[in-house]
Amino acid sequence: MSAPNTIFLKDYQPPRYLVETLRLDFDLHETHADVRARLVLRLNPQGQGPGPLVLNGQDMELRGLRLDGRALNAHEYAITGDTLTLSEMPESGELEIETRIRPQENTALEGLYQSGGNFCTQCEAEGFRRISYYPDRPDVMARFSTRIEADKARYPVLLSNGNLVEAGELGNGRHFALWEDPFPKPSYLFALVAGNLAQVADTFTTRSGREVALHIYVQQKNLDKVEHAMRSLKLAMRWDEERFGREYDLDIFQIVAVDDFNMGAMENKGLNIFNSKYVLAKAETATDGDFEGIESVIGHEYFHNWTGNRITCRDWFQLSLKEGLTVFRDQEFSADMGSRAVRRIQDVRALRSMQFAEDAGPMAHPVRPESYIEINNFYTATVYEKGAEVIRMILTLLGREGFRRGMDLYFARHDGQAVTTDDFVTAMADANEADFGQFQRWYRQAGTPEVSANWQYDAENRTFTLTLSQRTPATPGQPDKLPLHIPIAMALLDPSGREMPLQLEGEETPAGTSRVLELREAAQTFRFVNLAQPPVPSLLRGFSAPVRLAAEYTDQDLVFLLAHDPDAFCRWEAGQQMAIKAILSGIQDFRAGRRLAFNEALADAVGRILVDDELDPAFAALLLALPSETYLADLLDVVDVEGIHVAREFLRQGLAMRLKDVFLAAYRRNSDQGPYSLDPEAVGRRALRNAALSYLMSLEEPDMTDLALGQYQRADNMTDSMAALGQLAHRDSPVRREALDDFYARWREDALVLDKWFAIQATAPLPGVLDEVRQLMQHPAFEIRNPNKVRALIGSFARGNPTGFHDASGEGYAFVADQVIHLNALNPQIAARLLGAFNAWRRYDPQRRALMQAQLERILQTPALSPDVYEVASKSLA
Ligand code: TRP
Ligand code: ZN
Repeated sequence: MSAPNTIFLKDYQPPRYLVETLRLDFDLHETHADVRARLVLRLNPQGQGPGPLVLNGQDMELRGLRLDGRALNAHEYAITGDTLTLSEMPESGELEIETRIRPQENTALEGLYQSGGNFCTQCEAEGFRRISYYPDRPDVMARFSTRIEADKARYPVLLSNGNLVEAGELGNGRHFALWEDPFPKPSYLFALVAGNLAQVADTFTTRSGREVALHIYVQQKNLDKVEHAMRSLKLAMRWDEERFGREYDLDIFQIVAVDDFNMGAMENKGLNIFNSKYVLAKAETATDGDFEGIESVIGHEYFHNWTGNRITCRDWFQLSLKEGLTVFRDQEFSADMGSRAVRRIQDVRALRSMQFAEDAGPMAHPVRPESYIEINNFYTATVYEKGAEVIRMILTLLGREGFRRGMDLYFARHDGQAVTTDDFVTAMADANEADFGQFQRWYRQAGTPEVSANWQYDAENRTFTLTLSQRTPATPGQPDKLPLHIPIAMALLDPSGREMPLQLEGEETPAGTSRVLELREAAQTFRFVNLAQPPVPSLLRGFSAPVRLAAEYTDQDLVFLLAHDPDAFCRWEAGQQMAIKAILSGIQDFRAGRRLAFNEALADAVGRILVDDELDPAFAALLLALPSETYLADLLDVVDVEGIHVAREFLRQGLAMRLKDVFLAAYRRNSDQGPYSLDPEAVGRRALRNAALSYLMSLEEPDMTDLALGQYQRADNMTDSMAALGQLAHRDSPVRREALDDFYARWREDALVLDKWFAIQATAPLPGVLDEVRQLMQHPAFEIRNPNKVRALIGSFARGNPTGFHDASGEGYAFVADQVIHLNALNPQIAARLLGAFNAWRRYDPQRRALMQAQLERILQTPALSPDVYEVASKSLA
């Protein structure tokens, strides 16, 4: 095939024409939809001057084209590939475009499509061009009004952005609604919904006293699962007022839940569209993790109203301008709603397992990429999560007040504009008279920096010398890296675990007991004075920068930090480092054919955690969670699939054998007596109890299986039910099938719960799992066109089942490649994401490497490859 075009940031040109207003008329039918667009255009004073008008458009039939009321002749315009070009365009004029599209045949779920019999849209990033010809780029912001006409019985609810200004009957069973959005917006924020939906209504009074109507739309049968989403929305609205001074700006805010959705949710102005997974929840059907996910995604989309919608991106290279910043905001929101320490550790864990791997692979790119083939491939952990870390570093460097000053200036300066990440950083710098010149490299340079720390204590001079050095490994297209500006939050702990007063050489007096050191050079030395005792340094507190830290800790230092560090992240990290050391040495033993040795110090440490009733149970559960197999794989030069699995399970079982009674006691102590509650204490107790269960089950003893079975049977909530079922389904026991069948029988009507059932089976580390996955693809509840189902079954197998996917036979690879090829034709975005499971192929042993490479090559040779899949496959092989 001919390679699709690459788009470069350096080629950016402002739009030649701007759109002042856009009026859209939709006529929805059972086989098609007719769209009439009227664009009031004018020359962009900041553009290149008069010339042809180029509009984007894909997969549609042009049925009418008029300029200022006059039908255009065939020679006055040209349609080539995905554009419509008017050769002569006056400095201003009204263009009227009629197109016919086929939402019923749209399986890509981009543009206007049908889900569960309802119409809905997804326009980010470039879906609007499947609805009408238009300058489909974020720096063209227009005032939209939208009229929708449809059959009233089938589609009683007709929604779009902004305010409803008119609605009525039309005869022959049809009706209409007219919506107007007063805020100019880019086309990617357009939304339309037409369907048979039930509404939950509430109101929110803003701090200036305006009343906002809140409407959440779901299928009738799901009305009992909306309460948590509505509560989360009101909390988010209040939080943005309090923390950032941001008020909502329309009189109505609507959320619609749909079952078929490529991502989590979408922030369309005034009309957010959500994957139903991030709206619907009640205790019986949703886990504590699901409830947290809903709160954070509802917050995320709501926060986009200011960081994304009021101020949007100039071009898609600036995606992190809205996504990194909004992830940062949703993380802060969740931290304020629950335990800050727990949330931070969860975020770091996610970053390390997803983003670090991305940064080390063939698709590595800077937070602000320089080129892409398909923008949909750049909705990545780097743009989102690393982007959020970059914002967090700015906060760490400026302090809370300085950061708020910078945000205020950013909003004041750029409201209503489409801007760049440079504009954001400049506002932060200007508001604080700070210099972020070097810091900007975080946006331009890909790769995870490695920071090394070593130190000496000089008893005679009572000084402590800390040397920090940094190095960023090469990434594709960026062989050489410059030093970054890295904030390293730190403290020095005395032997009792207290923070010591900090005084750097040259300072008059000690100031404070914790600091942020600014590492700017390749290597820098910091000398602390007046220290009467040798300290243990607590470094990278709160994970103050997205780096890999190699610190010269001894085993005793780690035990000490795990027991004493007042910084929760560092405390947790010390435990992780101990576990990682034990597992890595287990892997070496396994490779050498030796018996694995158990590190008794770890059992002591874990024993102390389990009996410490001062500890927040949610934090204790995190301390007990072993590093994931994915993160461990990332730490090895050559991934050892079996070694990782064996050594990690050996550690789990070794701990369980030595501490069985302590785990059992913790299990019982944290069993819920009262009714189900979502308060953090109760959530934490469930997490700790289920962590204990996972250790106990590793003993493979019949009475432990009974324990899990009993929990499964008695559970009144999905958290406990899933935790027990997961344990039962991931071990070969006589009750395994029985439990899975029981779960299916109970939940066969609930699509979201069945996703869990598919995922649990797809991630079983058991022989024969691939056959089970193949059979499940034939199950009546499985639908290849539904992204949630694909993620639950195929995605979980490819990314959540290392021993299954990487089975030495190569069958796992061939199976996933078949699915990528099949999905390429149906839904390229989903196909490309699934293909990402092969990205780390070069890091495996020669046999597996060859097997994965062969599948990638087979995919690349597939005819009619989408740009999405082409980009991932070709860059992976490059
Ligand atoms: N802007 C959305 C968010 O992060 C992301 C999104 C939703 C998206 N649906 C999409 C991106 C489809 C690409 C394609 O909140
Ligand atoms: Zn977002």
